[in-house]
Amino acid sequence: MLHAHAEPTFRNIGLVGTGAMGRGIAQIAAQAGCTVHLVDAQPAAVEAARTALRETWDKLVAKGRMTAEAATACSERLVPASGVEALAGCELVIEAIVERLDAKQSLFAQLEGIVGPDAVLATNTSSLSVTAIGSRLQRPQRLAGFHFFNPVPLMKVVEVVRGLKTDAAVTERLAAFAREMGHTPVQAQDTPGFIVNHAGRGYITEALRIAGECVADFATIDRILKDQMGFRLGPFELLDLTALDVSQPVMESIYHQYYEEPRFRPSVIAAQRLAGGVVGRKVGEGFYRYVDGQAQVPP
Ligand code: NAI
Repeated sequence: MLHAHAEPTFRNIGLVGTGAMGRGIAQIAAQAGCTVHLVDAQPAAVEAARTALRETWDKLVAKGRMTAEAATACSERLVPASGVEALAGCELVIEAIVERLDAKQSLFAQLEGIVGPDAVLATNTSSLSVTAIGSRLQRPQRLAGFHFFNPVPLMKVVEVVRGLKTDAAVTERLAAFAREMGHTPVQAQDTPGFIVNHAGRGYITEALRIAGECVADFATIDRILKDQMGFRLGPFELLDLTALDVSQPVMESIYHQYYEEPRFRPSVIAAQRLAGGVVGRKVGEGFYRYVDGQAQVPP
C-alpha cells in the first residue's frame, strides 16, 4: 500500500516538462504528499499527463495497492499551470524538458527571477553538465542534478548530481526527498553521463556495433545479454523504451564530452532510424514492432 509521507522536505514543487519523465516524477511526488504544479511548452502535454496519472492511480486502486481516497487526493495535488510564472511559490522546481543545453540554461535563468531565494532547482538531464546548465545563474549553488530513470515509479534509483558550485546542503535535501518518495538516492559527481549512462552507453553502443557487424540480429543480442549477463532489458529493448529521439542525443553528448572517446561513438544504425522516425515503443515501431503493447520481431 502506498502512503504519503508525513512532512515532505518539499511540499510545493514545480515540474517543467510533463513528458515521459516529468509525469513519472509527478506521480511519485504527489504520492509522497507534495502539491505538484505542472508546466509544459505544449499545454496539451499537461492535460495528457494528468489524464495518464489518473488512469495509473485508478489501476493501483483496482489492484488494491492504493485506496480510492488516496488516489483522489493524489489527483487533486496535480495543479496545471499555464507557464513558469505560476511556480513563484515552489520550494523546488524540477526540469524534465528537452535534452538541450541552451533550452535548460534559459529555463533556469528565467526561473531564477521567479522563485524565492531559498528555492532549490533540479535538472533531470541524462547527459549534460550540471555545472554548465547552472553557469548562467546568479546562484548556481542551488542547482543540482536529480536524474531519474524510466519508468520512474519502478526504477528506484535516482542519481543526485553535484555540480562544481552546488551546495552540499542542496544535494542532501534532494537525497532526503528521494527517500521520502520511496527512491534510493546515489550521489554522483558531475561527469558526462554520471554513473549509469557512463557505464550504460558502453553497453548500448557495443550492442549496436555487434549488430552493425552482423554478428547477430537485435533480438538474439537482447536475449543472450539478458540470459547470460543478467540484464533486465536487452540493449535494443531499452533503446525502444527510451526512444531514439531521447537516447541518440544522449549518446552524442557523452561522446563529444569525452573528446570523441571511441568506446562511446554513436552508431549510424541508430542515427538512420532516428532520421526515419522509427524511434521506439512510443510510435509503435523501433527495433521491434509493437502490436497491442507486445514486442514483435520485424521480418
Ligand atoms: P519527452 O519528450 O517525453 O518530454 C519532454 C517534454 O518537455 C515535452 O512534453 C515537451 O513539450 C516539453 N518541453 C520541451 N521543451 C520545453 C520547454 N522549453 N519548456 C517547457 N516544456 C518543454 O522527454 P523525456 O523522455 O521525458 O525526457 C525529458 C528529460 O529527461 C530529458 O532531459 C532527458 O534526457 C531526461 N531523461 C530521460 C530519460 C528517458 O529514458 N526518457 C531518462 C532519464 C532522463
